[in-house]
Amino acid sequence: MLDGSVVTPPPLWLMRQAGRYLPEYRAVRSQAESFLALCLTPELATEVTLQPVRRFDFDAAILFSDILVVPYALGRAVRFVDGEGPRLEAIDAAGIGELAAAGVAERLAPVLETAARVRRQLARSKSLIGFCGGPWTVATYMIAGRGTTDQAPARTFAIENATAFARLIEVLIEASVTYLVGQIEAGADVVQIFDTWAGVLGEEDFERWSVGPTAAIVARVKAAAPGVRVIGFPRWAGLNYERYVAGTGVDGVSIDWTVPLWFARERLQTKVTVQGNLDPMALAVGGDQLDRAIDRILAELAHGRLVFNLGHGIVPQTPVAHVERLVERVRGWKN
Ligand code: CP3
Repeated sequence: MLDGSVVTPPPLWLMRQAGRYLPEYRAVRSQAESFLALCLTPELATEVTLQPVRRFDFDAAILFSDILVVPYALGRAVRFVDGEGPRLEAIDAAGIGELAAAGVAERLAPVLETAARVRRQLARSKSLIGFCGGPWTVATYMIAGRGTTDQAPARTFAIENATAFARLIEVLIEASVTYLVGQIEAGADVVQIFDTWAGVLGEEDFERWSVGPTAAIVARVKAAAPGVRVIGFPRWAGLNYERYVAGTGVDGVSIDWTVPLWFARERLQTKVTVQGNLDPMALAVGGDQLDRAIDRILAELAHGRLVFNLGHGIVPQTPVAHVERLVERVRGWKN
């Protein structure tokens, strides 16, 4: 697995495995005042973290939180509007000048408390995965104040205000290291860095804003917590995945569903563990096409080090029965 060994059948968990497709998640979510309140209430966040492991016997739990708790911890206003997504107070160069990473551990103490509670309640045989966003991805939401399809606001800002943008990335590296090390100290066994918007960056910017900051986080986290494993997810990075693996020091790379399996096998799996890459829409649709898509990934990648997963988060309309079918099929795979 992440130590380089091949496990048969491969371990399995799903990105966004705790979420609205689960009735038990919706029940807990309705008890919280807001999505952010859910992330910051250890009792409720522990419960929703454990729900999918209980129901599907996944091999890992992923801490229930969000990548945007980091801007919240930096003192920025963050809220989640139902049916629309995140809304932040958009930051400008002056706002970036005032940012300080000092209070991050205190403001995120409830999330660290959740990690500790989950680790105590989770079987020893299951991994607890902690996470943060890649600095570039978190910056795109801070600059635009919301999600966009191509991150034009952040790309424009990074060109026009290169010095301020570099400072924003530095602050996010600092905050992310504090947050990840806190999660590991609280009990996370592995951490994943979600650089969901890495794929909109050109060659040089990919190096500067995704590879460089991720490498800095990996080095600092590993120095503080020797032996911890790190997975990186530079979604839609295409050919740049190879450069990402070579340049960041991650132990595993999570690949989106557009990555050809031969490329994953020959260029990535030879160097690190590969995680992925079923199209979330295939899981939502189900049926024979789902079976074939699962079998194809297993045939191409399960002879090497693989963590079976989706190529991005599970979508809310996914029937629970399709997830059951997926688990059964992956667990039944024989070399
Ligand atoms: O994987 C897990 O189960 C752990 C929890 C997790 C969430 N968000 C919970 C969540 C993780 C790992 C994330 C990461 C995250 N959040 C990313 C990176 C990976 C990705 O999925 O792209 C990003 C870009 C975000 C920012 C974010 N949070 C967006 C764009 C949205 C709105 C989209 C949506 O699905 O509603 C969120 C909200 C969010 N984060 C929800 C969940 C379960 C849904 C909100 C709700 O339940 O009310």
